[in-house]
Amino acid sequence: MKNIVLTGFMGTGKTTVGRLLAMDQGLKFIDIDDVIEKEEGLSIAEIFEAKGEGHFRAVESSVVKGLAQARFGNGIVVSAGGGAVLNDENRRLLKGIGPLVCLSATIDEILKRTEASLQRPLLSKKDKREAIERLLNQRQGAYRDCDLMVQTTGKTPSMVVDEIKGFLGKDTVGKGDMRTINVSLGARSYDIKVGRGIIDCIGAGLKALGFSGNAAVITNPVVYGLYGERLVKGLEGAGFKTLLITVPDGEDHKNLKEASNIYDSLIGQRFERGFPIIALGGGVIGDLAGFVAATYLRGVPFIQVPTTLLADVDSSVGGKTGVNHEKGKNLIGAFYQPRGVFIDPDALSTLPKRELSAGMAEVVKYGVIWDKAFFGFIEEKITEIMGLKQEAIHAIERSCEIKALIVAKDEYEAGLRAILNFGHTFGHAIENLSGYGSLRHGEAVAIGMVYASELSEHLGLAKTGLSKRIKDLLSAIGLPTESKAIEPQAFIQSMQLDKKVQRQKMRFVLAEDIGKVSIREVSPHELTDFFKKRGRPR
Ligand SMILES: NC(=O)c1ccc[n+]([C@@H]2O[C@H](COP(=O)([O-])OP(=O)(O)OC[C@H]3O[C@@H](n4cnc5c(N)ncnc54)[C@H](O)[C@@H]3O)[C@@H](O)[C@H]2O)c1
Repeated sequence: MKNIVLTGFMGTGKTTVGRLLAMDQGLKFIDIDDVIEKEEGLSIAEIFEAKGEGHFRAVESSVVKGLAQARFGNGIVVSAGGGAVLNDENRRLLKGIGPLVCLSATIDEILKRTEASLQRPLLSKKDKREAIERLLNQRQGAYRDCDLMVQTTGKTPSMVVDEIKGFLGKDTVGKGDMRTINVSLGARSYDIKVGRGIIDCIGAGLKALGFSGNAAVITNPVVYGLYGERLVKGLEGAGFKTLLITVPDGEDHKNLKEASNIYDSLIGQRFERGFPIIALGGGVIGDLAGFVAATYLRGVPFIQVPTTLLADVDSSVGGKTGVNHEKGKNLIGAFYQPRGVFIDPDALSTLPKRELSAGMAEVVKYGVIWDKAFFGFIEEKITEIMGLKQEAIHAIERSCEIKALIVAKDEYEAGLRAILNFGHTFGHAIENLSGYGSLRHGEAVAIGMVYASELSEHLGLAKTGLSKRIKDLLSAIGLPTESKAIEPQAFIQSMQLDKKVQRQKMRFVLAEDIGKVSIREVSPHELTDFFKKRGRPR
């Protein structure tokens, strides 16, 4: 490892981690703020006070330029202030020195760490929380442009150093697209890491999370054939002894019988409580392996390595695990958060097109329920996304960010999280009535989203044209937008049986506009009227 540049918001640990990393690697540590203080003969706070931020930024840029031009034989670790990387030229120069690693922390953690400090000129305002939130929002784009993001909340400096070494050592960052998204759930917080080629680095990632010893990989023969050996090689390279458990492919095997077979293997191998279970595969494997992790020995650490788009953006994040019962899907399960999610967008290259489109239904859903600009981005870049260009990685990241935000606010679906079910009430009924297996879940959700937005228009909640916009995008993805003929009464009855229906009241997530939904009770009478007006599903 040669040069490394650390940056990040105040309080994220640049100096502590930078010093430790330099010591660990036998490199020289340079803190740009220290250099500026020396050059100016004033503390940072005094420079801000006496000469203003403009002057400080100018000196900062000239120090960055100087470092970029200098030659350091043995390599250096540089700590650059969180404001330095906002300037595009500074960022370019810093990246030229070495991989640019951005440290992050939750707002609560930043508040805690900066509480006692008087030397934080940008946080002298009264309402610190608001100021931090505003600055983080402004800086988000620049921080995301760094080569690697590392969340530091809940980790010791040496754990952060190990994590940086783990990822940089594996050269993943060389591809320039490793991102970290934190799911902020207090003691159960975890990171989603998105990076091309990350499947090779899971061993390093697990070590950075503090695991060692054994790891169990649960997968199916299809996914094992494609990615299993690479995952296992990376685990073994990092010193893990791997127990491989394969389950036959398909939704039919997401059941208690397969769970029981997995328990047998784990017990047979005396798999211990501190060892992690890794799910390698789509939503079926993730749900099943997560359920086993939640229940084996009353819970062992769980890691998600999703390989379908649906699993990347939906099932791997948020902690819903479970198996099917002969009476219905997902009737047995537990909320059980993973300890980490590792998404390798390159794995999508082998995914059948139909599965990719089905996963896209959930991506579109995030635009409708949360983020108008994101919806516009999907519309504009749909060819690039479906062609798995760089835009697809952004779509995965933004979807995960939105799901992480919603789950962080409502982990157990007491309120807000229900908006993730947009299109699902209709969708489940469509899946049910067309016979399970004939439609992919995402395909049924696509039709369901069209119906839900048509119902919004019918009830006067949304302007005419909303459903057409959603329908056009789904069609462009190649998703169905209309179900085969179903009697409206059968439809209504099926929706009344949905497990999310409470006390016979049908609650629908309805779109008021792109990016804005609300939850509303809809009576059977209103639904009958809706179907009458729109005509039978064709
Ligand atoms: N837990 C949650 O929050 C949540 C959310 C949504 C859906 N789900 C569940 O997810 C499941 C559906 O997941 P899914 O759509 O990923 O289906 P899946 O897991 O069955 O995967 C689809 C198919 O793709 C194959 N596959 C997986 N990765 C591949 C790759 N990279 N290349 C080639 N083939 C690959 C699989 O072997 C399978 O045949 C359902 O059981 C559903 O209930 C769970």
